[in-house]
Amino acid sequence: MKEKGFWNHTKNTEAGLVDGVNNKVDLDQIQKVAFETMGHRQVNPQREPGYIYYHGQRVGKIALQLRELIFPFQDQDDGVILVGGWFHDVGKGIEPHWEYGALLVERILGEHCSVDQLEQIREIVGNHTLRKEKEYPHYVQLVQDGDILDHFGSQEIWLNFWHTAYHKQNLDYALEFYETRYQKQVVKVRELLNFEESVEFFNEKDRFVRSFVERLRKEGMGDLVGYKGKD
Ligand SMILES: [Fe+2]
Repeated sequence: MKEKGFWNHTKNTEAGLVDGVNNKVDLDQIQKVAFETMGHRQVNPQREPGYIYYHGQRVGKIALQLRELIFPFQDQDDGVILVGGWFHDVGKGIEPHWEYGALLVERILGEHCSVDQLEQIREIVGNHTLRKEKEYPHYVQLVQDGDILDHFGSQEIWLNFWHTAYHKQNLDYALEFYETRYQKQVVKVRELLNFEESVEFFNEKDRFVRSFVERLRKEGMGDLVGYKGKD
């Protein structure tokens, strides 16, 4: 992936992004605000403290990677895509969290963004769960897809293990989910993705989870993977 100013913003003292009307967004500063707001919050006891911060950071990054792939020449909204990803779940814990989150970002980011940028970020946060309900601009769709993608692959396994440990359950409990509900969830969620490129990444993650679960099942029974037995 091409290196950009905003992309390496944590290493760049001149960090920021200039939008079409020449408003510079100070991404380092906004990232600090994101951490202060969400970095230690535990909204859901089945997920680690700070989950919404780290999840938001990943979603912003995933959404930007999709943008580069799908809209290679449209980098004018990269700042709002990134910040929208960072803050999309800031309202978690008070439902409907996307509506509450849209109100919160207005207060949190008011002094850090232009009016237009703030409106786009509000649009991302306020619509991130309302997938395919209407036509959305690409910067909303990209964060919607990034949000889904971050819940699958190795992250899906991480969340499943957290859930299992929280309920003080054993390996059979974790495996039972993959046997009964995982497939239905995959089919339902895949339908909600906006871009075929996102579907390809989603399918790759799904394949990884299936092969991992297969191995987990075998090793969970004490089988040595690759052992052929005595001739
Ligand atoms: Fe999310």
